[in-house]
Amino acid sequence: MRNLLGAREISRQDSLKVLDTALEFEEVAGRNMPKLPTLRGVTVATLFFEDSTRTRLSFEVAANRLSADVMTFQLQGSSASKGESLKDTAQTVEAMGASIIILRHSSSGAAVRLASSGWVQAGVINAGDGTHEHPTQALLDAATLRREFFSDPKGLGLEGIHVGIVGDIAHSRVARSNVFLLNLLGAKVSLVGPIEFAPQGLENWPVSMHHDFDEFLDEKPDALMMLRVQKERIRERFPLVWGDYVRDYSLTVQRAKRLPSHGIVMHPGPINRGVEIASEVADSDRSVVLKQVRNGVSVRMAVLYLMWGALS
Ligand code: CP
Repeated sequence: MRNLLGAREISRQDSLKVLDTALEFEEVAGRNMPKLPTLRGVTVATLFFEDSTRTRLSFEVAANRLSADVMTFQLQGSSASKGESLKDTAQTVEAMGASIIILRHSSSGAAVRLASSGWVQAGVINAGDGTHEHPTQALLDAATLRREFFSDPKGLGLEGIHVGIVGDIAHSRVARSNVFLLNLLGAKVSLVGPIEFAPQGLENWPVSMHHDFDEFLDEKPDALMMLRVQKERIRERFPLVWGDYVRDYSLTVQRAKRLPSHGIVMHPGPINRGVEIASEVADSDRSVVLKQVRNGVSVRMAVLYLMWGALS
């Protein structure tokens, strides 16, 4: 794995390797000194042209736990705000020694462009590009599902698990990456949302789409993944009446009660409480939101470790 650009490009074998390696790294988090010397001398650069809390910090913690040196770039305060291009920015951090570049960008395809352009030799990890993909989010979601539903998940896919992804599918890179990765791992994936939020090319996605959330809950999904409305990516006028959308697609306490007793609630964050999910549900025992965040560190450690193995 020289680059990690999208869930569609990962094989089942490679994704299970990431998940199994992440299980081994989970143990490190519990140590008094949660650090391994594995990437000592390796420099990792986080290039974030878009805001982030979880992904950037999680990659930085993951790299630190592996003893890598971390260079942090954020759009605000950088020379990109003076007009410097992605190419020049990436070449600049590589010239300072970065071997792995973790890129978040508002432009769909930015990570693929950086990896395929020949601008840099560094490995590229897509940390979210526009509405396209967010593969490490999908990997950490898969890791969470395996942890929740299998007592000994090593080597296992997600056969027999039904996941409903609810909300603004069209603008969500998290939905796109999860659809392809969870399907690859054997899960059944259903989408739930208004027709206005159906993604382009849905007919080629291995899913069914439901427009009535209450009806969908009759299917008793094992997990619901709630999505924030990506207002920052909706350039035209919001296509729905906001109050109707919240009424029809919010995970309320009443709707959460209709999940099977083992059913879990996921959310990639950031959460808009009271919009896509009620505060009581986000804080309930069913919610695995913070477990997703914790699993993100070990999954990103695994990605960095395996990528460095392929690059060195
Ligand atoms: N899930 C996720 O990508 O969160 P951030 O935008 O905070 O990184």
